[in-house]
Amino acid sequence: MQRIGILTSGGDAPGMNAAVRAVVRYASSLHMSVYGVERGFDGLINGDIRRLESRSVSDIIHRGGTMLKTARSPEFLTEKGMQKALKVLKAFDIQGLVVVGGDGSFAGIKDLKEHFDYPCIGIPCTIDNDLMYTDFTVGFDTAVNTVLTAISNIRDTMTSHERACIIEVMGRSCGDIAIYAGLAGGAEIMIVPELEFNIDDVCSIINANKLKGKKSDIIVLAEGVCDAEELKSQIKDRVDIILKTVKLGYIQRGGMPTMADRVLAARLSVHAVDLLAKDIKYRCVGIKQNKIIDMDVTEALALPRTFNEDLYRVANILGK
Ligand code: F6P
Repeated sequence: MQRIGILTSGGDAPGMNAAVRAVVRYASSLHMSVYGVERGFDGLINGDIRRLESRSVSDIIHRGGTMLKTARSPEFLTEKGMQKALKVLKAFDIQGLVVVGGDGSFAGIKDLKEHFDYPCIGIPCTIDNDLMYTDFTVGFDTAVNTVLTAISNIRDTMTSHERACIIEVMGRSCGDIAIYAGLAGGAEIMIVPELEFNIDDVCSIINANKLKGKKSDIIVLAEGVCDAEELKSQIKDRVDIILKTVKLGYIQRGGMPTMADRVLAARLSVHAVDLLAKDIKYRCVGIKQNKIIDMDVTEALALPRTFNEDLYRVANILGK
């Protein structure tokens, strides 16, 4: 394969730029031409495409967001939209596509495969860490570190004022951001969509903590459960401490990617290009026990959701 395209799609994640840079520079080293598609699958439909060379990706490795822009594309989900995208790919003579994004973007790869047998490789890039075939997605580490900084700052204030705070974090229907940041931030309670929670238990823990001499409580709430204000309204009159809420929101999606995310982006991107260079298609690349792997996209998307209960258990023991 001599000419490949790359697009970033879905929610932006720190490390997307590092992945674009690595794909462009590694593919160039193999004498492949790379074409950057702007605004994800929308840009593919509209032909927003330009040639990317090594210098086109200078000065981006440390930047959050994505130089290619990103979008969620309802039009691409239609047969007509996909037909338009395919026509554009053919017009530019792009023989294979690297898709950088999360599960919604990978569904786009599945569509291109099932409808047109068009070669694509997916690089997992989402703060949610909700793709089951890979231990980690690019962007997750940075997002967790951002949440961790917020937890630590909020903890200072909560302890000084002897208060409790519900901190709502992103993750869609995945609790990984909440668990990892909760464990690393010493949170007293973590509430995630994967596990049932009981309001009575939450109130008892908070009240027992006060009796034990704890000066503050941090309750990390994953957005997939409910809204922080909603939770507060259910418990505020039943706990013996002033309760505050913070919704971290988009602060989690931007920012300078960590070393872990940049290195992961580089390793995954090199593997993705190697697959296309060998005409291997419809795979998504990932990391399992620190080894770079790849898997059929349809199989990867069909994997059942799992949850790291052991980490959750440890976080709860240490937060007591
Ligand atoms: O998938 C990343 C993510 O930030 C989720 O955590 C969140 O639910 C969603 O995107 C928000 O998407 P949008 O920015 O399109 O509202």
